[in-house]
Amino acid sequence: MDRQQVTLLNILISLTLQIISPSFALNHFFIPEREELFSECLDKPGFSYVNELADLSRFNRKKDADGAMNISGNITMLWDVEPSNRVAVEVNIEKFEGGTWNPTLFKGGDKDFCKNFYDKNTIYYPFSTKHVINKQQVKDKCITTPGTVLVLEPFILKILINFAVPLSPGIHKAVIIFSAFDKSGVKRPRDTCIEIVGEIVNI
Ligand SMILES: *[C@@H]1O[C@H](CO)[C@@H](O)[C@H](O)[C@H]1NC(C)=O
Ligand SMILES: *[C@@H]1O[C@H](CO)[C@@H](O)[C@H](O)[C@H]1NC(C)=O
Repeated sequence: MDRQQVTLLNILISLTLQIISPSFALNHFFIPEREELFSECLDKPGFSYVNELADLSRFNRKKDADGAMNISGNITMLWDVEPSNRVAVEVNIEKFEGGTWNPTLFKGGDKDFCKNFYDKNTIYYPFSTKHVINKQQVKDKCITTPGTVLVLEPFILKILINFAVPLSPGIHKAVIIFSAFDKSGVKRPRDTCIEIVGEIVNI
């Protein structure tokens, strides 16, 4: 993965409190606006939403006074795709300025999301799928096997942004699009779009 993708995944899947340390030169903090974390992509009517991807009714999110989230519970996969499908994810960060959402320089993604989803060697592993305590049972299922339950250990999610990322304080959103492709590379009809809206503040 190149540097930009790694940084994106840091934002997407995020970093926990454990790694706050000056040596990381983190200078911004992203505070999600909604306790639920996710919102629909209202400007993308043809897309499905996270409720078609996963059942989040047992996925607990609690926002602390300082904007960190306490995460626990279970996520049940619902996405009606084939386990053998390849999943691509695309992430764009937009900034709310002058009454509209505008693109930032921040753009990236992963053409084979499932390949690295539980890989211990990825930078994001300690802050994301590490917390899936039943990973031995589910690691081959990624997010493409409906009925798979990811059991999470409780953890604190604090979204910190590296100084190298060209983002400045203000209201932003991450627009995350998941697409699935069959074995012959044909894209499945409906992509899923999820937004995470929040404010970037200085630490
Ligand atoms: C989040 O978890 C921490 C540590 O377990 C706890 O001290 C804190 O009260 C929790 N906050 C909320 C909002 O649940
Ligand atoms: C998550 O699943 C585990 C294992 O099935 C279960 O013990 C636990 O109670 C579930 N937690 C929630 C919040 O549903």
